[in-house]
Amino acid sequence: MESLKSMIDPASLPNHIAIIMDGNGRWAKVQGQDRLFGHYHGVESVRDVVEGCAELGVGYLSLYAFSTENWDRPAGEVSGLMELLVQTIRKEVPTLNKNNIRLHAIGNISMLPDDTLAALEEAILETSKNSGLNLIMALSYSSRWEMGEAAKNLGRDVKAGKLDPETITQESFEQYLCTRNYPDPELMIRTSGERRISNFLLYQLAYAELFFTPVLWPDFRKENLYEAILDFQSRERRFGKTSEQLSSGKAGNRGNA
Ligand code: IPE
Ligand code: IPE
Ligand code: MG
Repeated sequence: MESLKSMIDPASLPNHIAIIMDGNGRWAKVQGQDRLFGHYHGVESVRDVVEGCAELGVGYLSLYAFSTENWDRPAGEVSGLMELLVQTIRKEVPTLNKNNIRLHAIGNISMLPDDTLAALEEAILETSKNSGLNLIMALSYSSRWEMGEAAKNLGRDVKAGKLDPETITQESFEQYLCTRNYPDPELMIRTSGERRISNFLLYQLAYAELFFTPVLWPDFRKENLYEAILDFQSRERRFGKTSEQLSSGKAGNRGNA
């Protein structure tokens, strides 16, 4: 049987894949284990998927690891997750460098415990010269937080006379988002059967293709990633136009009137 990987068209890879890594707690529960057991096993999936994206030549991979709302989980789970983050980040830096992967973070990272933040900033610095896959970790992130910050910073710039409100465009507004240096995700995957966005990249996902799978995150592997990419490649992305316009290659009228 032909492998899933060999069926992927390298010319139409999604340049940016975003993943909501969900289902660790349920995975652990099935085995009669503590939720943290699920988070520990989720790290294996992160490794596999990061490697899979790097091998394929995907440009950007955003992973939703911890949301603003996740701070409201039981204290033991939050501290266990933060501990796991420090350990994983420290341990993975040599592998990231070996694979030419550059680490980035988006979110309110100043809320992270000191040692987690220090490990993260060190890893970002130590991988900053890499030019392959950009791995973007969303930590203490939510879209509504991001947009609130954007509004605040934009207001400050107007007040300081650095920005004329009349000149604001989509492009200049986007400069106030945490994702200003990255293209929009083209494919968004959520594991564990939930079909919602949970405050992840609400603005940036405007035209992303969404892929939902019942697979729980600790069971997610490269093959599942290939399946999602193949599904993406089977879709027609119209961006508001008609199918006929796309096949004839005609440009739209907007802005030409
Ligand atoms: C995703 O798994 C990881 C985080 C949100 C940190 P969950 O912990 O949400 O697992 P479920 O959804 O409860 O199974
Ligand atoms: C979304 O998962 C956040 C992350 C995967 C980090 P949640 O498990 O927190 O989302 P809800 O509560 O099911 O929407
Ligand atoms: Mg969940």
